[in-house]
Amino acid sequence: MENRIPVIMDCDPGHDDAIGLLLANASEKIDVLAVTTCGGNQTVEKTTYNAQRVCTLLDMNVPIGKGAARPLTEVPMNAPSVHGKSGLDGPALPEPAYPISDLSAIELMAQTIRSADRPVTIVSTGPMTNTAGFLLAHPELKHKVAQVSMMGGGIGHGNWTPAAEFNILADPEAADMVFRSGVPILMAGLDVTEQALIYRQDIDRIRALGNHVASVVADWIEFFFEFHRQRGYAGAPLHDPVATAALIAPELFQMRELYVQIETQGEFCRGATVGDVNGSTGNAPNARCIMGLDRQGFVDLLCSAVQTYGR
Ligand code: RIB
Ligand code: CA
Repeated sequence: MENRIPVIMDCDPGHDDAIGLLLANASEKIDVLAVTTCGGNQTVEKTTYNAQRVCTLLDMNVPIGKGAARPLTEVPMNAPSVHGKSGLDGPALPEPAYPISDLSAIELMAQTIRSADRPVTIVSTGPMTNTAGFLLAHPELKHKVAQVSMMGGGIGHGNWTPAAEFNILADPEAADMVFRSGVPILMAGLDVTEQALIYRQDIDRIRALGNHVASVVADWIEFFFEFHRQRGYAGAPLHDPVATAALIAPELFQMRELYVQIETQGEFCRGATVGDVNGSTGNAPNARCIMGLDRQGFVDLLCSAVQTYGR
């Protein structure tokens, strides 16, 4: 375990969150210490139930901390059009075999990070409310956060508004606090995640792996693709798994250091991640922004993870 990257998966499952959990759980380079949940794709009750079911499917027996029911100040947003009424519509999943921790997400993060033998990476694939709340409540533990590897934002564009991506727009104040915190940030924004497309032939390849997880993952991607296909995407953009894949196989990704600010005001641009691409602010970078990837290598990584559940 000593060579593995210790992580806390903070998520709002969510089809792509679920695949991110699979990637982390299957990798010999990652040690998942805990899962924490937040509202986002669906209510926190639903995303927590989904996290329990995904962990059961993946035989992933780790503490699950239920987190923020609502953003710091923003009105709660959900995405049933993308993930369905349950937040994880599509294939049947097992009922939870693992309980929800008695600790809240913030306190589970604190206990996990406090007791870890080395700094812990927070992989954030939903609104950043829990991470912001943890940093606010436990400044004495900030030094033990190795980095926040997050899916969110987009230097070039948004998806929920022209300027803002869903995870950031759902809680801009939380994202602003994290980006200003001084904790190293690895940002998987839409710049790269909309290149992480899973095509029909990739779905067929995953399904042909033939184990019980393969059919669920293929069904998840099929469901997730439907929303995007109707909007002209050639494949399913697997957003959240990029935040984990970049830890497992950084060589698959092109990154650049940028100073990124979160717009919390603005009639048209609230929730935008504004990257200082030409250095005009004079500020030092606060994020490594992933801007491109080896798509085939990413798909191969996903298939290898699914194969760990049986040939
Ligand atoms: O914009 C994509 C993000 O919003 C992903 O994390 C997806 O799960 C949704 O939460
Ligand atoms: Ca998500």
